[in-house]
Amino acid sequence: MLTADLTDGRPLPGTFDLIHARFVLMHLPDRRRLVSRLAGRLNPGGLLVLGDAVELPDVLGPSSPYRRTMDAMWRALRATIGTDIAAVPSYPRFLREEGLRDVAAEVYCPPLVPGGPAALFWSETWSRMRPQLEATGLVDADVVDQALTYLSAPHLAELGPGMAMAWGRRG
Ligand SMILES: C[S@@+](CC[C@H](N)C(=O)[O-])C[C@H]1O[C@@H](n2cnc3c(N)ncnc32)[C@H](O)[C@@H]1O
Repeated sequence: MLTADLTDGRPLPGTFDLIHARFVLMHLPDRRRLVSRLAGRLNPGGLLVLGDAVELPDVLGPSSPYRRTMDAMWRALRATIGTDIAAVPSYPRFLREEGLRDVAAEVYCPPLVPGGPAALFWSETWSRMRPQLEATGLVDADVVDQALTYLSAPHLAELGPGMAMAWGRRG
């Protein structure tokens, strides 16, 4: 097994037929440069697959406790550990800029189901980061309580954050 820190600036060990970075780049700084580093380690014909979270905008949606808490979560993650999903829709372009061919992408965005794994995941996440959520100033304890209740309510009906996957091949 090889281990490497993508961000330490040292040459990455080895070259690869498949590089799959799933839920990694969104947590790291200077992700455009990291795409370049990863693409540079592909063997001829090798595939680079990038997968990270995306939010589909719900422009008609109300400013509900759910929405406010989800927005607070992204803001808190940015402020604390640097997680940022803003660049994710640009991944296909990044891959093309790296000279990769057959660039394609898809988004998987399952609806939240009461008691389902994704609803439980967000419930766990929000419960654990309550102080950071409230520190954003976007929500208070009451709003987070309402959002948590909604996640297990029978009328839960949301497209939670999805995963965008983009890939391209070294010619
Ligand atoms: C959210 S987890 C995703 C794990 C797994 N890829 C998945 O999809 O379930 C983030 C991963 O990024 C890795 N990671 C974080 N910082 C890194 C760095 N600087 N260099 C390389 N990997 C890193 C962590 O070790 C962890 O495995």
